[in-house]
Amino acid sequence: MTKHVRSVILIGASGNIGVHVLTQLLAHPERPEVTVLTREESTAEFPEPVRVFRSDYSSTSLEQAFKNQDVALSFLNYDVPFDRLKLIIDAAIKAGVDRFIPSDYGIRTYHERYNVGVATYKRKVVRHLEEKEGLISWTSFICNPWIEYCLLDGLLGFDLGKHEADIVDSGDDPFSGSTRSYVAQAVCNLITDPAAYHDSKNQYVHLAGHTLTQNKILSVLEKVSGKQWKIDYTKADDVIAEGQKLIAVGNPWGMALIVRAVTCGRTGEGEGVGDLRYQRPWDERLGLKLNDLEDDLRATLEGQFPIIHMPPIIIP
Ligand SMILES: NC(=O)c1ccc[n+]([C@@H]2O[C@H](COP(=O)([O-])OP(=O)(O)OC[C@H]3O[C@@H](n4cnc5c(N)ncnc54)[C@H](OP(=O)(O)O)[C@@H]3O)[C@@H](O)[C@H]2O)c1
Repeated sequence: MTKHVRSVILIGASGNIGVHVLTQLLAHPERPEVTVLTREESTAEFPEPVRVFRSDYSSTSLEQAFKNQDVALSFLNYDVPFDRLKLIIDAAIKAGVDRFIPSDYGIRTYHERYNVGVATYKRKVVRHLEEKEGLISWTSFICNPWIEYCLLDGLLGFDLGKHEADIVDSGDDPFSGSTRSYVAQAVCNLITDPAAYHDSKNQYVHLAGHTLTQNKILSVLEKVSGKQWKIDYTKADDVIAEGQKLIAVGNPWGMALIVRAVTCGRTGEGEGVGDLRYQRPWDERLGLKLNDLEDDLRATLEGQFPIIHMPPIIIP
């Protein structure tokens, strides 16, 4: 049976992706009633007509926040302890929330090649939801790198300041990626379309967005910046080994290197782990509109897509 979502609560809506979802949700003609859950000590401000619920994240407060909410969406980052996430999900169940949308929004966290902290943490959250499937449903978005964001933090291998590129293998292996705004469209369209909402129950929803290669990005960056870039080529296995070495000494940049190598490179068997076109993506079904890649990259260089909260790892 399809369900019309009437109320949603956004957790951490003042962050890098949350702001985009909130803005687009408020502008949506079919929008449900929107509440945001924010920390008591947060200085974040939210536009009218959003209802703001300030919480100390105790079970009692969370349960109260989730009362009469159909869908809870988390936009928390992976530095929020797993126990806090568990508390949030358990409170949503007690309050009778129909669907929980956890804060995945990146790589295929269930894929064995991404054996890094961020993937393990996010997979653990979805596993917890899988265990609770009789009590609450879930949907989790896999969208790969937000290109405008991962160009700025360096994860994709480009140093915009120095005009230097670290290319994995040949740089010609396709991978998927889009922008925060594109991902926000998907979230809003799924929530406001009863059939898509129904069909996405207890599933990962993949978004392919642009089909990129590092060389394709490089050629657009060279064109838009009007500069010739210095290029270093490294084998994916060597980048992974370097990432593991950094992780072993507590340097979180190692995680970014592993994500880059697995996403932009190829496995020995030839599979492109980062190419989401083969994961039955939902882009068309959700009616998503993709910008021109050159426009997205030009806007990034012009500073039109700022990072709101810098990530724990940025280009060293
Ligand atoms: N695909 C990509 O390229 C990419 C890039 C970056 C991040 N991501 C993913 O996107 C998701 C969201 O990340 P983000 O960067 O948007 O998050 P963020 O901006 O770092 O944080 C989101 C919000 O979480 C709240 N918050 C912060 N610390 C908290 C705490 N200890 N307890 C409770 N709430 C806390 C804050 O909201 P209040 O102040 O309102 O409480 C904050 O605005 C994560 O899963 C992340 O891995 C993906």
